[in-house]
Amino acid sequence: MLVSQADDHAGTRRDFLYYATAGAGAVATGAAGWTLVNQMNPSADVQALSSIFVDVSGVEVGTQLTVKWRGKPVFIRRRTDKEIEEGRAVQLSDLVDPKAENENLPPDSDARDENRTLDKDGNWLVMMGVCTHLGCVPLGNNAGDFDGWFCPCHGSHYDTAGRIRKGPAPRNLGIPVAAFTDDTTIKLG
Ligand code: FES
Repeated sequence: MLVSQADDHAGTRRDFLYYATAGAGAVATGAAGWTLVNQMNPSADVQALSSIFVDVSGVEVGTQLTVKWRGKPVFIRRRTDKEIEEGRAVQLSDLVDPKAENENLPPDSDARDENRTLDKDGNWLVMMGVCTHLGCVPLGNNAGDFDGWFCPCHGSHYDTAGRIRKGPAPRNLGIPVAAFTDDTTIKLG
């Protein structure tokens, strides 16, 4: 992970080796490795690759912002009342993947709509824009048979909470570590 981030960053060969070494240390020595990484004190721009702050003040209800984070698209959608109602009306027994797939919750959390959204009212949905079949970027804005996202690569349909409902994808769209830091800013990572 650290290696590819440094690589994406197009750093110098020295940067690359530096972080490759740090990554190997973390893997090989466990807790001691983390201490090693901390002491190496990565530069601010490399730290920024692991967490970003997104201004969502311009995201209107019923629209979606896509940002690139750790080299992948992240969808930030501000749902309509209809989308929230549809998401909450779904029975867990109707879901292909019954798990929340939400890194902010315990791994065994179920996929009820409330466990998929960033806020308790269900207005904000933050998900990786990566189809869980083979990694295409699904189309949004009420696409597909379930009013959510549709992956045209092999026909996977996701609902208004990003849960897989039809097609070959095995899991709900993943929800990364995310939180509001103020009324209009979401921190990813
Ligand atoms: S990659 Fe999305 S359906 Fe195959």
